Amino acid sequence: MIKGLHRLEYRGYDSAGIALLNGSLTIIRRKGKVKELEDFAEGQNLVGTVGIGHTRWATHGKPDDRNAHPHLSGNGRLTLVHNGIIENYDTLKKALEKLGHEFTSETDTEVLVHLIEELQSRDNLPIEEAVRVALQKVVGAYAIVVIDKEDPEKLVAARKASPLVIGIGNDDFYIASDATPIIEYTKKVVYLNDEEIAVVKKDGNLQIFTINNELQKPKVQELDMEIERLEKAGYDSFMLKEIYEQPQTIADAMRGRMNAGESWIRLGGIAEYANKMVNAKRFIIVACGTSWHAGLIAEYLFEDLARIPVEVEYASEFRYRNPIINENDVVIALSQSGETADTLAALELAREKGALIYGIVNVVGSSISRLTDAGSYIHAGPEIGVASTKAFTGQLTLLTLMALKIAHLKGNITNSYFHELLTELENIPAKIERILEKSPKIEYIAGEFKNTNNALYLGRGYNFPVALEGALKLKEISYIHAEGYPAAEMKHGPIALIDENMPVIVIANNKSAYEKIASNIQEVKARKGVVIAIVEEGDDFIKNMADYTIEITATEEPLSPLLSVIPLQLLAYYIAIQRGCNVDQPRNLAKSVTVE
Ligand code: G6P
Repeated sequence: MIKGLHRLEYRGYDSAGIALLNGSLTIIRRKGKVKELEDFAEGQNLVGTVGIGHTRWATHGKPDDRNAHPHLSGNGRLTLVHNGIIENYDTLKKALEKLGHEFTSETDTEVLVHLIEELQSRDNLPIEEAVRVALQKVVGAYAIVVIDKEDPEKLVAARKASPLVIGIGNDDFYIASDATPIIEYTKKVVYLNDEEIAVVKKDGNLQIFTINNELQKPKVQELDMEIERLEKAGYDSFMLKEIYEQPQTIADAMRGRMNAGESWIRLGGIAEYANKMVNAKRFIIVACGTSWHAGLIAEYLFEDLARIPVEVEYASEFRYRNPIINENDVVIALSQSGETADTLAALELAREKGALIYGIVNVVGSSISRLTDAGSYIHAGPEIGVASTKAFTGQLTLLTLMALKIAHLKGNITNSYFHELLTELENIPAKIERILEKSPKIEYIAGEFKNTNNALYLGRGYNFPVALEGALKLKEISYIHAEGYPAAEMKHGPIALIDENMPVIVIANNKSAYEKIASNIQEVKARKGVVIAIVEEGDDFIKNMADYTIEITATEEPLSPLLSVIPLQLLAYYIAIQRGCNVDQPRNLAKSVTVE
């Protein structure tokens, strides 16, 4: 079970715990990473045939032993792990307190296990029925697994808006938030749908019913995932491995979907909805974090190439703003995990309003991929490092293909430019290889700035969102405050911050507005800022102005973010490593944010 928790640890790692049933119930919980729990458990005689475990990303209640899962019912009979948020926990808690329940943690989860206990003992219900009735009273999101000491042959699981997958082994079951801990035991899985409850029994029986008590037929699917892809393969960290995988993952994202020699692009999802895409009045892109940055680049791609107006929205803001969504709009969701709660909820809203929903997602079978009308998988393989890298360039590759395909269908792009961009896209993996060879230089530059407190990232046009992404990478993994800005906008504020202690990273590989960027660099230099410039190979003009340069191979401007982001990923990586930070599991963050 600990091994499984390690696999899921990228989702949250501030405390962990397990409960095992073996005649009696043993629960151990520990603040900190799964390793702390593992060390604590070692030497103890922990055996059991039924068990549950959890690795937490705190929402309600600080990360400590007391708030760690599993949580126990007041009578000590039930124990539960939960991913999500019970939004009406306060009302439920007050009602339960009136009935005499006492709580030992600050979590919403403990309220849920007490609620199940209350219903079970009041009406003498079997555990699955008590869970069902309790969930009818709950507002919020949950993926839960419950065990009942008095009914030890059974595990009860349920989900709403937080993912849950059940692995079916030869004579065992595995339940988890995603398939990564299951894959080494079985490839046969059932994804639970919203408001479904599953009961798995020791005799091999699996039963699924809804919270309205309608029996469902389990849909067994075969996982297409290799265990090796979940390992570090000789790299020091998953993040470094994932940065280095990008030539491959970009090639994988293109595979079978385009042919430069024959000048074609085939994207299944687009073929199916070609009419709707071509005639769309507007594209609305919803995403969070790094995926949102990919969305901002897509705005340039779709407007520039396909001449479609685009709005790029933070999913969390979009859904609470009473947005105007029409049936002629196409809503595009970008998500590595396919589970981000805000993105998922934004899509549900868009669906209610009748828009076509297209997903660009990495995790096969994820909630977003199942909610969309059509879409394309990134095929980047599991991304484990919390800070997204290969999923970002995978998303960009697909967004480029989409923009080109629609531009071609609409007749907005000449055949020769279409052919040129496709040919250049095929060259991108090799060009990234060349940038990766520059790692030693980037590592050296990182050493010069590892003690800085602030950094400014500037870019223009297609590379403005790359500046945002570069700054986000640095913040996420090295805890250095960094801001991304449109280069020209710098003079309206951030310029006040520039002095000899402020490194300014300028993405200067644009062909358009090249002179303007050069002027922006001069403005920084005039105020004693230290400039690290990302330039095209052979660009001596900017090289002479900047303090440090990282050269990248020239490419077509719409494809330039695919190259310019690579040195920024490496720079953040090496700075974080030299500061002694854990790049794969940065503090306070989580890979898959399944709460709002
Ligand atoms: C978290 C991760 C980020 C990611 C964001 C959106 O914040 O730490 O790396 O970009 O979620 O995730 P998604 O899976 O929807 O792309």
